[in-house]
Amino acid sequence: MGTIRACIFDLDGVVVDTAKYHYLAWKRLANELGFDFSEEHNEKLKGVSRMESLRILLEVGGIALSMQDQLVLADKKNNWYKEYIGKMTPEEVLPGAISFFTELKSHGIKLGLGSASKNASTILERTNLMEWFDAIIDGNKTQKAKPDPEVFLLGAKALDTKPSECIVFEDAEAGIEAALNAGMRCVGIGDPRILGKANLVVAGLHEMKFEKLTL
Ligand code: BG6
Ligand code: MG
Repeated sequence: MGTIRACIFDLDGVVVDTAKYHYLAWKRLANELGFDFSEEHNEKLKGVSRMESLRILLEVGGIALSMQDQLVLADKKNNWYKEYIGKMTPEEVLPGAISFFTELKSHGIKLGLGSASKNASTILERTNLMEWFDAIIDGNKTQKAKPDPEVFLLGAKALDTKPSECIVFEDAEAGIEAALNAGMRCVGIGDPRILGKANLVVAGLHEMKFEKLTL
């Protein structure tokens, strides 16, 4: 294993539990359109952009719509989602995140955020997390959705590190692929049956220690 100079964190489902709010809002939309949307279906939406998520959801429901109608629905979902995240508090930072960040900083590791979300800054502000990150790359700064490596490559560049010096933390299959496509090592957060491609899988950041980063 080579030197580690930076850790890049996905936001939704890794640092904060917003994956549940995304799911609630998508499920509400599916129900309104007349079909059910299971947690299993939702797995495919994790890490991917809003419009790509909607495309997958409509495919599950067997519904074809014009781009104009799709934009209306994506906006509707986002408004519900914004209602949920607008009420977030710092208590919703996932267990272990702050102590792991503190430990990483004490070892001189730079911290980056690599999220597909266009709502990342609202969430970081509501949860007092903004100050932790040396670079923030979100859905407003990227053109290509995970599994494309763009978000993490931009993160490495902003942190002035090589991809081989970065470790990514991800809860989504698409995100793990994006990290590997970027030439980075990756820690999966969640179920090893889903995140098997990661170099290491843990249940949450509360299980992380600096010493475990010998991937
Ligand atoms: C990712 C989530 O972080 O952001 C996806 O895992 C979501 O579920 C994507 O679709 C885009 O988020 P937003 O907030 O821009 O709709
Ligand atoms: Mg995520």
